[in-house]
Formats: sequence, structure tokens, C-alpha cells
Amino acid sequence: MKFKIVKDSNPIMRKRSLPVDLPLSKEDKETLDWMLDYLKKSQDDEYAKKHNIKAGVGLAAIQIGLLKRMFVIYYPTKDSVVQYQLVNPVITETSVRKCALEAGEGCLSVDTVHEGLVHRYYKIKLKAYDALSDKEITITATGFDAIVLQHEYDHLNGMFFYDHIDKINPNQELNNEIIL
Ligand code: NI
Repeated sequence: MKFKIVKDSNPIMRKRSLPVDLPLSKEDKETLDWMLDYLKKSQDDEYAKKHNIKAGVGLAAIQIGLLKRMFVIYYPTKDSVVQYQLVNPVITETSVRKCALEAGEGCLSVDTVHEGLVHRYYKIKLKAYDALSDKEITITATGFDAIVLQHEYDHLNGMFFYDHIDKINPNQELNNEIIL
């Protein structure tokens, strides 16, 4: 393994990651390829078991110890696959409406269970350079797709999913919140 997954007990995870130079260096592209490959493998039950790793749908560079504003996403849907290698992403629009996963969220860097609703924007617009398609892209995402993007984006700013859980009423739904 080229990199190791950094856990939330490491203070580096609370740091704000730094912008990445574009055009992307060969080294950064190789890192993104490694990260995407890691996610794919993590979703292979046999591989994950053998290497004792958790399945993940997103991974930010800080989670392998690099303070760079980039993250990868990988998960299959009913008839295709959602995959990105996003560099210097910016969330440009957010909905008033919030949403949360009924089962809560998890993270490759977090070993303890944090129960409760992780309140997210239901819909977002995100702009970034996507190294996978080699294009500047704008993603409009809702629901689960939006949640995954916000989870990874948070890592670039030193935040964890559990920062969004209400400490007093962890399961309290917000007004008009969509529970997925
Ligand atoms: Ni995470």
C-alpha cells in the first residue's frame, strides 16, 4: 500500500487543505488514481476482508495525509457508476431544504459509531476540475449524491460528519427535512 488511511484522532484531519496547482502534476494525478482504485477495491468484499479495510464511496486527500483540496468519489448506481476525481471544488449553490440519511453516515477515517442525523443540503451545485474527464465541470446533485459530495468537501475544511449531528437531540428532524 502506497498510503495509509489517516484516522480522526490525528490532528492533521482538522486542518484546512490547500489549493492544488493546475494543470495537475503527474504526481497529483497518480495520487488521485490510487485513491479511486482504493475505493473500488474497498467495495470488493473479498479484497476488503483480506486487507481489513472498510468499504467507502468517497476519499479526500487529507485522509491519506495530503493537505490538498481534492477528493474522489466512486459508487455504482442502478445502471451506471458515479465517479469523479475532483480538484479545487467549490460549492456554489445550496438549497434551503435539508436532508439526512436515516442510518447516519460513516467515514473511512472514523472507527467509532456516531449515531444521529447528519443534516446536509438536499441540493447543491459544485464546480471543480475533474481529473477523470480532464474537464472543468459543474455538478448539480441531490439527495445521496449531494450528501457524499458534502461529506468529502467537509474533509477539505477539517470537518467530520459528526460535527453536523445535534448533540442534545441527535435524531431530531429539521423542518421539511428529507430523510433518505
Ligand atoms: Ni469521510
